[in-house]
Amino acid sequence: MRVFVTGGTGFLGTHVVRAHVEAGDEVRCLVRASSPTLALDGLPVERVEVALDRPAEIRKALEGCDGIQHVAGLFDCSPGGAERMRAVHVDATRHLVEAALDVGVPRFVLCSSTVTVGWGTMERPADEDTPPPDPDRVYGRNTGLRAYHDTKQEGETIALEAARRGLGVVVTYPDYVIGPWDQKPTSNAMILQMARHWIPFWPRGGKCFVDAADCGRAHRAALFHDPPGRRYILGIHNLTYRDFMTRVAHVVGQVPPVMPLPRTATRLVGLAGAALSRVDPHLAIGLDRQVLETTAALRFRDGSRARADLGLSQTPIETSIEAAYRWFVDQGRVPRRGARLLHFR
Ligand SMILES: NC(=O)c1ccc[n+]([C@@H]2O[C@H](COP(=O)([O-])OP(=O)(O)OC[C@H]3O[C@@H](n4cnc5c(N)ncnc54)[C@H](OP(=O)(O)O)[C@@H]3O)[C@@H](O)[C@H]2O)c1
Repeated sequence: MRVFVTGGTGFLGTHVVRAHVEAGDEVRCLVRASSPTLALDGLPVERVEVALDRPAEIRKALEGCDGIQHVAGLFDCSPGGAERMRAVHVDATRHLVEAALDVGVPRFVLCSSTVTVGWGTMERPADEDTPPPDPDRVYGRNTGLRAYHDTKQEGETIALEAARRGLGVVVTYPDYVIGPWDQKPTSNAMILQMARHWIPFWPRGGKCFVDAADCGRAHRAALFHDPPGRRYILGIHNLTYRDFMTRVAHVVGQVPPVMPLPRTATRLVGLAGAALSRVDPHLAIGLDRQVLETTAALRFRDGSRARADLGLSQTPIETSIEAAYRWFVDQGRVPRRGARLLHFR
């Protein structure tokens, strides 16, 4: 079996590629001239340079493939970010499903995000059928997070419509993914920061965490899933940020945070971000009020459907944190534990 993967040069995508390679599948991976190839180096994968806005190139790349993993994506709150997110989440999804239907590629897995899914409490976490919240209220009308939400949701609609036309579509919603190979970093940024400095505060919210390699294997399983058209939350461990950060602190040899981040601090930083963005949007990158507020909210989810249908594993979160931390150490991005202790003395 041969699979075409977008986003394979990135964090989650490399775990999807690795799951296919481990299972003996042939992988054809989209790369761009600008892509860092570290995550693919040494893997037996075919690299093809394809522009996702060129349908003819996509059709050619899909020839002889049995499935597509569309993992490419981005969360980009910087100026022009909404258009860049639209290009990958919406336009590229449309080009890929149309090309798949044209060329006769039977299976398609779309990597979306839990940003389009509802949430619940620790006792009653949300599943795939929980109604999503009103995006105007939660994400605002004209914010980077709203553009991420809207473009992910439009991509899902396009893919699920293609399912009604006979394409074997499955949509995944990874939640907070932890593991190695996060070069930017994206969701492992907190681990990297905590390994470098002591962080005294925990955000008041919580999320559903999941191991990156487990996500990669669930993505592979999703490609074979019958009946198609199903949607899967990829999340296992519902944890408050306090709990998560305490576990990170133990793994990286750091003192755990000691107090919650005051609500006024979140609000003030958000207001400062909004004011700065009126002067120059580049100054406000990373200070998006809605993003900051999401860290103050408890948003728990239930990955039972993916556990039952896709065999999503339940790797302990400490194992995932340790793997992410060791990878940052091996890459020279943080000193080794012993070295750091000596350094502090
Ligand atoms: N990390 C998480 O916790 C998480 C949670 C939920 C959903 N997700 C979703 O998972 C997917 C991957 O995210 P990630 O965390 O792995 O991010 P990442 O490390 O930044 O990887 C993003 C990948 O997308 C590719 N890409 C971006 N724009 C592209 C374009 N215009 N054309 C072709 N390829 C493009 C990148 O290619 P280059 O290497 O060439 O830049 C890279 O391979 C995204 O769809 C994201 O929404 C991630």
